[in-house]
Amino acid sequence: MAVGLAITSDGGNYNGRMTAFVVLSCMMAAMGGVIFGYDIGISGGVTSMEPFLKKFFPDVYAKMKEDTKTSNYCKFDSQLLTLFTSSLYLAGLVASFCASSLTRAFGRKASILTGGAAFLSGAALGGAAYNVYMIIFGRILLGIGVGFANQAVPLYLSEMAPAKFRGAINNSFQLSIGIGILIANLINYGTEKIKDGRGWRISLALAAVPAFILTLGALFLPETPNSILQHSNNHEKAKRILQRVRGTEDVQAEFDDLIKAGEISKTIKHPFKNIIQRRYRPQLVMSVAIPFFQQVTGINVIAFYAPILFRTIGLKESASLMSAAVTGSVGICTTFISMLVVDKVGRRFLLINGGICMFVMQILVGGVMAAKLGDHGGLSKGHAFLVLVLICLYVAGFGLSWGPLGWLIPSEIFPLEIRSAGQSINVAVNFLFTFIVGQTFLSMLCHFKYGLFFFFGGWVALMTAFVYLLLPETKNVPIEQMERVWRKHWFWNKIVEVDNEVINKTEA
Ligand code: BGC
Repeated sequence: MAVGLAITSDGGNYNGRMTAFVVLSCMMAAMGGVIFGYDIGISGGVTSMEPFLKKFFPDVYAKMKEDTKTSNYCKFDSQLLTLFTSSLYLAGLVASFCASSLTRAFGRKASILTGGAAFLSGAALGGAAYNVYMIIFGRILLGIGVGFANQAVPLYLSEMAPAKFRGAINNSFQLSIGIGILIANLINYGTEKIKDGRGWRISLALAAVPAFILTLGALFLPETPNSILQHSNNHEKAKRILQRVRGTEDVQAEFDDLIKAGEISKTIKHPFKNIIQRRYRPQLVMSVAIPFFQQVTGINVIAFYAPILFRTIGLKESASLMSAAVTGSVGICTTFISMLVVDKVGRRFLLINGGICMFVMQILVGGVMAAKLGDHGGLSKGHAFLVLVLICLYVAGFGLSWGPLGWLIPSEIFPLEIRSAGQSINVAVNFLFTFIVGQTFLSMLCHFKYGLFFFFGGWVALMTAFVYLLLPETKNVPIEQMERVWRKHWFWNKIVEVDNEVINKTEA
């Protein structure tokens, strides 16, 4: 059985190289990742700052101060506080659907700009907030920004990139998410020490810096040629940009494919209705499965454990910072490695091996906790250190695989006519499960205890099998020729078969 058949590169048929133009545009666009990371990273620190809690969540603060008897596994349970953190994802979920129409009708740039503007206002509101409504509304605006940016930026990156570097370029999105998280944690570390108790304002307001760069950058970014052809008939402009982006005059082969894709795209009026057609079934399944799986790796939960463990091994105040710095750097370094190799070893290799690594680490962490951590008291230093090392290896597995590829694959598998719709589904499912995991894991932790690691480990085993059996290799396949990978896949070819006959006839 030819499981997950790989397609040999046709990307070589296209002319072009990696130009400074591509690198610069992509660096700007990846700022969207920095803001996303900043927003993920900043809330954890801010919600642990006492002046912030006293001002906006006095009940939570009082409960935390009084409570000394609760089990290790149940200490951090506060729905209201997690709601503050996760309101961003709910807003982002809704916004990503609006972003789909905007991205499709006016281009990737319009969505990136809208996202940038929402980020700027959210940062301003958060920094200036004097009541809880302003805080939450600011967070919702950031969520709207994330919804627009995460919808448009990965598509922008994948369309700008030459096929043979697409993985590397798109993985810069995850790299910048990691950098954003790390910067946020360092800033929180600094602002927490500010005596007048207003440090949290600086933390929240500083989100404006990457937001400003993104907005400004978006004004100067060129639109992708694919997107120009999708929403206008300006072939000349699209070709000129393609030539500049690829650094050569001779782009005809690629341009012909883009025109074909643009024309098909124009015949489709309702992408969300179309995407449920049988011929798009593999893409639809992936647009739901991939973001779902990325979240049930448990990444956002595991990160939560690290500060507690650092405290256990004796690093007192700076435990959170240390944990963020260590796990953050591991994530950044491994995502960088993933960037270097993803277009050579392929997506499947990284997902399968990263998955195996995460699975083993989760089972080991759960095992050590089951054996050594009771309801009260802590782990011994030695065991806490061991668990930390295992968590770092788990984060390394994620940084190599599901972190970057969870954004890369959905951005490259959709044909142009349903690309924006597919990406919206991807973002919405990702945020929905980030929200669900974020909102429920404190009670899950309380009930499952160390079993939580086995729970997520089980999902990782399942997703690894899913990749092995059902995800075709997409490395080096030009984005507007991607539909071939399903036709050659042992399982999906049966699903898209009916339509293939139609396609083959039209091609002939
Ligand atoms: C995920 C986030 C996660 C982050 C951690 C991203 O790819 O979508 O949910 O917090 O990686 O680095």
